[in-house]
Amino acid sequence: MTPLIAGNWKMNGLRAESAERAQRVARAAAGVAAELWLCPPFTAIGAIEPVLRGTRVGLGAQDCHARGNGAHTGDISAPMLADAGCGAVILGHSERRAEHGETDAQVRAKTEAAMAAGLMPIVCVGESEAERLAGHAVHVVCGQVAASLPDGFSGVVAYEPIWAIGTGRTPTEADVAEMHAAVRAALRDRLGEAAGNAVRILYGGSVKPENARVLLRIPEVGGALVGGASLDPDSFLAIAEGASGK
Ligand code: PGA
Repeated sequence: MTPLIAGNWKMNGLRAESAERAQRVARAAAGVAAELWLCPPFTAIGAIEPVLRGTRVGLGAQDCHARGNGAHTGDISAPMLADAGCGAVILGHSERRAEHGETDAQVRAKTEAAMAAGLMPIVCVGESEAERLAGHAVHVVCGQVAASLPDGFSGVVAYEPIWAIGTGRTPTEADVAEMHAAVRAALRDRLGEAAGNAVRILYGGSVKPENARVLLRIPEVGGALVGGASLDPDSFLAIAEGASGK
């Protein structure tokens, strides 16, 4: 499977700087074997869409509502994202689970909505530090996989240990390998053999050019979800080149 590298810009970037950043990624993308996605904040989607149109870089968002329209002040629906030119959406990121109280059931409903709108969902799962220290990491994460994915799921899962996000800390190679193998097994249980094997499992949490090559060659790591380092096009591209085995 082609590795997938997605940049999660979080709540960063005004339109002009976002368009310029996207331009720099798009220009270099032709030489990168990995599949690339950029996920800017909602307000920058309109500025970036013409920049990425017709390039090898996909445009994604960072959340959507479970309903297509209605009285939901401040929310954005999956059909709206598709209409704005998005092809993917990050769902259930730990920052949304923590700051907005999103539950597995809500993530599942959003994922269903994204798929119905033709978007590729990137569903995030991951344990807290306390859960890891208590020895519950695999149990917690596989529970999230089972409860956050709808029947017939097709898309991407991102394993992001919460304690590794934005901290500069990463799990050991053995821990990543153990978790990704467990997530693969949970995907097969949830979706059946063929569909479970078809899902790419990204690693996320302090991915940098310096550690990308090592992380990305761990078995069952099918790419990376990159936060902080994706705000610098050179770093993002260096990570993508690491994924391409360059
Ligand atoms: P980070 O964020 O790369 O800054 O650790 C990853 C993420 O939250 O998706």
